[in-house]
Amino acid sequence: MTRGKFIAFEGGEGAGKSTQARMLAAALTERGIACVVTREPGGTPGAEAIRELLLGTAGDGWHPRAEALLFAAARSDHVARLILPALDTGKWVICDRFVDSSRAYQGGAGGLGDADVMALHQVGSQGLLADLTLLIEVSPETAAARARARDGGKADRIGGRDGAYHARVASAFAALAQAERERFARIDGDADAALVHQAVLAAVMPR
Ligand code: TMP
Repeated sequence: MTRGKFIAFEGGEGAGKSTQARMLAAALTERGIACVVTREPGGTPGAEAIRELLLGTAGDGWHPRAEALLFAAARSDHVARLILPALDTGKWVICDRFVDSSRAYQGGAGGLGDADVMALHQVGSQGLLADLTLLIEVSPETAAARARARDGGKADRIGGRDGAYHARVASAFAALAQAERERFARIDGDADAALVHQAVLAAVMPR
């Protein structure tokens, strides 16, 4: 059995990742490729419970290191129970966010540093990386408008952080993509969803 491909969508708030993940899955299914669409934090019952702990706005929130550990724990469960078993049975896995989100948010914007985030990922998920990571990049104006439309002004604990934090997230993502050009494709997400989808297909199909 040929192992499936693992494709991750990454980007800041309101980039349109979830829409693009669904559109890619539909396009692959049409071509006879079995795929699973999933998300982080989440994707398994345990990881969805950790998502609520991380993103719910009750209480004081988490220290940056505890936050990174919780993301790594959620990812570990997701990798072991959903992602690897699906890939092993030949399915493609399309994941809305993966470890590069921890690298950009906790490692870059949160100040933890890349080495510590990757050390947690090594322990939790044996350092698994996607075969292809699609970084959807949008202007801050587009991001804010889409996030407002989606959340109706009720951002989660991390989405609600200030503009400076989200600007650091965007530059951390850009630096990762620049450093790992083989694994990343950078997609301009400001256009409408159908055009962005064409760019996604153009990046995925050669692989
Ligand atoms: P989303 O699923 O709506 O994109 O929300 C997930 C939020 O969690 C978003 O603000 C990004 C944040 N996040 C991290 O900070 N680190 C991570 O590793 C992941 C997967 C998400």
